Amino acid sequence: MSRYETEGALIADRYHPRFALWLSADGCELLADPRTLTMHIRPATTSDIPAIVAFTTGTFEWGDYVPDAIAEWIDDPDGMAMVAVIDGEPVGVTHTLLLTPTEAWAHGVRIHPDHRGQGTAGVLAESLMQWAHYAGARVVRLLIEDDNTSSMKQVDKVGFRRTVHLMRASRPVGEATANPQGNGVRRGPSNLVAKPGKVQDATMAMTSWASSEIGRATRGLVGIEWTFHKVTVDDVTRAARSGHLWEIGSGWAMTSAMTPLFQVAMVDTRSEDAYETFRALTDVANNRGAEGLVVWIPALDWLTQAARRAGCDVTPMSIWECSL
Ligand SMILES: CC(C)(COP(=O)(O)OP(=O)(O)OC[C@H]1O[C@@H](n2cnc3c(N)ncnc32)[C@H](O)[C@@H]1OP(=O)(O)O)[C@@H](O)C(=O)NCCC(=O)NCCS
Repeated sequence: MSRYETEGALIADRYHPRFALWLSADGCELLADPRTLTMHIRPATTSDIPAIVAFTTGTFEWGDYVPDAIAEWIDDPDGMAMVAVIDGEPVGVTHTLLLTPTEAWAHGVRIHPDHRGQGTAGVLAESLMQWAHYAGARVVRLLIEDDNTSSMKQVDKVGFRRTVHLMRASRPVGEATANPQGNGVRRGPSNLVAKPGKVQDATMAMTSWASSEIGRATRGLVGIEWTFHKVTVDDVTRAARSGHLWEIGSGWAMTSAMTPLFQVAMVDTRSEDAYETFRALTDVANNRGAEGLVVWIPALDWLTQAARRAGCDVTPMSIWECSL
């Protein structure tokens, strides 16, 4: 019997008087209380895809990733894609997944432009928190760009708190690199070299990072692609085994991918080495044939300045979290 088979249980009525959430008998379906129904939340199905694509294409100036991701989210056995439905039509969507048995990650919250400002994102958020709680998570986190005021206000309203201020530092490398002197980067290799770390170094790397200014500012979270979870020694050991742990002078880095983007999930460095560390990462990204370098860093001034000096653009973002 799955954890969802609690027949007709009222699983939450503490958040919103009109949208008490019900767990149905036939699985993990989440419904608004039908006695007060104007809108309901349910798992997304493949038949919802055309409507979701229609209202998510062009969400932002650069477009949106939801139309490409939605089919995979609906099939995700470790996650839940939900839609908010009004008059039979999906008008809101989000996907939540378990990154670890106790940590959930929510992303892709989108409300149809004609239905914004009516509390729909709030009800979706309550629903995804209920799902995550029943799936075993004790915390749910999400990432918001710092200029997305409406989204920040919306998650604040449902109880999320901003816990980590981050920068996404990125730059092209390899053939995609513009004249490196043009953005202040010296030609020639870095004074520091990124060397593959050994499996037996994992505990040392983890301890060094966790007690460093960077590790503390990041609250122990590492960024794998666009998701964040608490790093463990097992994560670092696995990274070392698969060639993703790097020793850079007295510091460390852990990568989550090397091509097409060389993605750095965690970096451990001191202010005096930070610039050369970014340059060493750029060199190794270049040697591995990457098109670009991406490094998640906490928003510490000295680190951001070093990233900029090494030719990176930086975008401020924050992690928001809510205990379940
Ligand atoms: C952000 C978004 C999800 C909010 O959805 P929504 O259903 O309109 O939000 P809600 O109606 O639940 O709003 C709840 C609270 O959020 C805040 N809020 C929502 N939209 C806002 C806006 N445009 N400006 C300022 N505050 C806003 C308000 O505090 C609101 O509470 P209030 O109505 O009592 O003042 C929606 O605007 C959207 O889809 N935006 C584009 C995609 C996006 O940015 N997604 C998040 C990416 S991380």
